[in-house]
Amino acid sequence: VSRPRVLSGIQPTAGSFHLGNYLGAIRQWVALQETHDAFYCVVDLHAITVEQDPKVLRQNTRTSAAQLLALGIDPDSATLFVQSHVPEHAQLGWVLQCLTGFGEASRMTQFKDKSARQEAQVGVGLFTYPILQAADILLYNAHHVPVGEDQRQHLELTRDLAQRFNTRYGKTFRLPEAYIVKDTAKIYDLQDPTAKMSKSVPTGVVELLEDVKRSAKKIRSAVTDTGREITYDPEHKPGVSNLLVIYSALSGRTVEDLVADYDGKGYGDLKKDLGEVFTEFVTPVQEKVATYLADPAELDKVLAKGAERAREVAGKTLARAYDKVGF
Ligand code: ADP
Ligand code: NA
Repeated sequence: VSRPRVLSGIQPTAGSFHLGNYLGAIRQWVALQETHDAFYCVVDLHAITVEQDPKVLRQNTRTSAAQLLALGIDPDSATLFVQSHVPEHAQLGWVLQCLTGFGEASRMTQFKDKSARQEAQVGVGLFTYPILQAADILLYNAHHVPVGEDQRQHLELTRDLAQRFNTRYGKTFRLPEAYIVKDTAKIYDLQDPTAKMSKSVPTGVVELLEDVKRSAKKIRSAVTDTGREITYDPEHKPGVSNLLVIYSALSGRTVEDLVADYDGKGYGDLKKDLGEVFTEFVTPVQEKVATYLADPAELDKVLAKGAERAREVAGKTLARAYDKVGF
């Protein structure tokens, strides 16, 4: 029996992933490779929707791939590749752009947020990137796409474009389903626990590749509240609750169990212990990343093999789509 296929991508825009990326996405990728025929890509084409220094982009793409491997993506089990190594993404992206209404694209709310935040001139690529994302998914005929709330609208667009293509040219693409993964934790900023941890607001962000002493310090100085009791109450105690969620995710212990354990202890104890739990988790990850980056030929080999496997699938889908279009 063949497994359902899943596709997901992550941008290489920062050198290091942060704890939110891991607990909200990458950890689920690792689990999904056991149950699915998984395709995971570092989406460097998407990264250039905002200006990038070429040297930095190339390095960040490699560091991103090394982190995915270090965090548990198994290149023998999942297909791990870099988006620009598979030209079919851009090729199908163009076909889909020609099927997208201007008004339809204009309704994508992420563009409004992202363009508003950008100081430099906003490029058309930032406007059309959900269409490229549709191509990323449809090329692999993915059954499932793990999506957070902020990506739901883009998955709807993908389904609409697949349906439109199929209606106009005959059945070609599978309509992908949103896949809600269990144990996905939304992680909040340590300095502002009402905002999600994000590289765009760098103060309360725990980066996987930063010095662990720095991370432990950030955790120790996380914003909590004036009370003393360690309880899980996201509404009234967002800071403490965020720390408990992180602790639980990294240790595998339930939040209730942790709360019972910290009965009578203070915030300082919780933060100190969480710093240690994080250090224990991230130290071997950092070592593996360093090993991958120290052997560029080996990393190239892994990514070349991934791109080859990806192209076997993407090439066939594109050929079918091109044929239907009249190319
Ligand atoms: P950022 O918000 O830092 O720009 P991205 O948008 O590149 O991160 O997100 C990459 C992946 O990580 C997405 O699947 C996203 O849902 C997930 N993710 C990002 N931040 C968080 C967070 N704070 N909590 C949970 N998941 C997150
Ligand atoms: Na984001």
